[in-house]
Amino acid sequence: VTPRAIPVALAERGYDVIVGAGLLARAAEHLAPVLADRRRLVVVADETVAALFGHALAAGLAPAGLPTVTLTVPPGEASKGWAGLGELVERLLATAPDRRTLIIALGGGVVGDLAGFAAAITLRGLDFVQIPTTLLAQVDSSVGGKTAINAGAGKNLVGAFHQPVRVLADVDCLDSLPPRELRAGYAEVVKYGVLGDVGFFEWLEHHGPALLAGDAASRTHAVAASVHAKAAIVAEDERETGRRALLNLGHTFGHALEAATGFGSRLLHGEAVAIGMAMALATSERLLGCPADARRRLLAHGHATGLPMTPAGLGLARADAPSLLAAMTRDKKARDGAITLVLCRQLGEAVVLPDAPTATVREVLEDSLDQV
Ligand SMILES: NC(=O)c1ccc[n+]([C@@H]2O[C@H](COP(=O)([O-])OP(=O)(O)OC[C@H]3O[C@@H](n4cnc5c(N)ncnc54)[C@H](O)[C@@H]3O)[C@@H](O)[C@H]2O)c1
Ligand SMILES: [Zn+2]
Repeated sequence: VTPRAIPVALAERGYDVIVGAGLLARAAEHLAPVLADRRRLVVVADETVAALFGHALAAGLAPAGLPTVTLTVPPGEASKGWAGLGELVERLLATAPDRRTLIIALGGGVVGDLAGFAAAITLRGLDFVQIPTTLLAQVDSSVGGKTAINAGAGKNLVGAFHQPVRVLADVDCLDSLPPRELRAGYAEVVKYGVLGDVGFFEWLEHHGPALLAGDAASRTHAVAASVHAKAAIVAEDERETGRRALLNLGHTFGHALEAATGFGSRLLHGEAVAIGMAMALATSERLLGCPADARRRLLAHGHATGLPMTPAGLGLARADAPSLLAAMTRDKKARDGAITLVLCRQLGEAVVLPDAPTATVREVLEDSLDQV
């Protein structure tokens, strides 16, 4: 599988996302353009990821001949808070970094967000590279330059836009991911098809199962296509004022379901997004005349890949519709009680509807909860 380079074209400074198999082992080569003139590398990883890939990355970086320090943090969302940030920045500063230091975030979205934000604020901004190791991080969090930590008031509320200088997405890393994590990340892949590219959705209908089963060529194609899709949207709207909102397809419904189930392992983020997309298509049928075939195909694809498409089994019932609706109107995408939703005119064509009628949304919630 030949690696692909997907450019992220930004106004100030663009960068490449390299997607392929076996990238870690040749990290020095794939990072060559951003390793020139460095003094030191600081790898940040969680303990799980460091144990899995620390050696491979160190070996891959060895030809660059640069002193390398590795800083690990405990795995899990809890590392992505004020305390974790403070600790990481202090440990970073203890390595005496300067402008020629390069931070390498090796791991899932938690490490990418945490190390990226630490890089953004340490010495008013250090260069950093993302080496995402979860499917979610490869297709979503490592692209676009959003970095953040969680605050007491909510997730991802403190952060900065800080673009990486390069991203290496090695699809071989996905081999060790628990299947459920892999499938949850896959929901974000499906999202790119549903929101903007029916041809890609169709490709996933054919290749999704092989991709999930481990086929490196389909993984490379799907990650590259997803990165390309996100890069195109981000390039148009780097600071999220317009089109970038399309990336929230399935997320307003999804966040409400995550909130109702306690943001835990009962419902993973990607699973919530999958169910949320099905709900968004149901809403799209009622409000935009989206053909029912779109939702039928999405549900069939969920069935074929093991992604949940209904709230069945979550312990929710019709009586929970009002609190889900309330959570949706409190969502940060909601303005003045009206619900801003990303809906579809058809499969592959998403639009933002700023004032979705809450009565319709409530009907959709009740309908899908009735079926559980
Ligand atoms: N910045 C953005 O634009 C953006 C977008 C979406 C999500 N996010 C953030 O991403 C985070 C979620 O990311 P995530 O799902 O990658 O979670 P994560 O980083 O917590 O990783 C999930 C788990 O998998 C383990 N892991 C990572 N790679 C592995 C591998 N290859 N094999 C085996 N285990 C591995 C990790 O140790 C961790 O326990 C959230 O904090 C979310 O807010 C950010
Ligand atoms: Zn998401």
